[in-house]
Amino acid sequence: MKRFLSPLSAAAAVLLTAAIVAASVAAQSPQPQPAGAAAQPQQGGPLPGGPSGPPHEMPAPKNLKVLPKNLTGNQVHDIMEGWAGSLGVHCDNCHSVDPGKVGPNGRPRLNFADDSKPEKNTARLMYTMTQKINDDTMSMVNDGQSKVTCGTCHRGHKKPEAYVPPKEHDGPHPPAPGEKPPIPR
Ligand code: HEC
Ligand code: HEC
Repeated sequence: MKRFLSPLSAAAAVLLTAAIVAASVAAQSPQPQPAGAAAQPQQGGPLPGGPSGPPHEMPAPKNLKVLPKNLTGNQVHDIMEGWAGSLGVHCDNCHSVDPGKVGPNGRPRLNFADDSKPEKNTARLMYTMTQKINDDTMSMVNDGQSKVTCGTCHRGHKKPEAYVPPKEHDGPHPPAPGEKPPIPR
């Protein structure tokens, strides 16, 4: 009996090893999915600077005219998320569609380096203006602690909403003789 057991258990061990190897391969192969899913929250918020970097590098920018040219693709992407959020728009508000190219999500691909949308150039002017306000003016307020951002004005709107001051306590004053009607805001 013992003679039979030995080769049998050897064969069983081989089978068992094969099964373990197969199981571990099977367990490993779906791993890219959880890793990709876990990476998704990183796209929205700032990266905590942990040891593990983002799952895939964004391509390096090739047409920066106002942002620092040494920014990485991921740094540009983070800034862009901030701009889009501050204006309450999507990327395609400023970036043109690449004709004939469809992304993995079935939506048209954008050509980020292309400059044909006027909103993109307005955004460049806005960025330069914001930097200038911070450098020239805000640097002298509160020891330079305060900064103006896109969101300071835009507050989630593509075009900042006009602010209507609350009416005076005793209501609007009647127009003086010869006074022009109020300027609509
Ligand atoms: C409010 C307008 C605006 C929005 C919204 C916007 N972008 Fe941009 N984007 C720009 C401008 C302006 C530049 C160029 C900056 C410069 O010239 O330094 C740019 C540059 C880029 C670049 C670098 C392209 C290159 O090769 O030079 C990428 C990539 C990019 N944006 C991605 C995005 C993504 C992704 C989104 C959405 C999350 C987005 N952008 C939303 C205005 C915008
Ligand atoms: C000091 C206030 C202020 C700041 C800061 C500011 N904006 Fe603006 N932005 C405006 C005003 C006002 C308009 C004009 C809206 C209109 O035409 O009614 C405008 C218009 C725009 C437009 C054109 C909107 C359209 O469709 O006509 C874009 C794009 C834009 N801003 C992007 C930005 C970005 C990006 C930033 C930050 C880098 C920024 N803005 C910072 C006040 C500001």
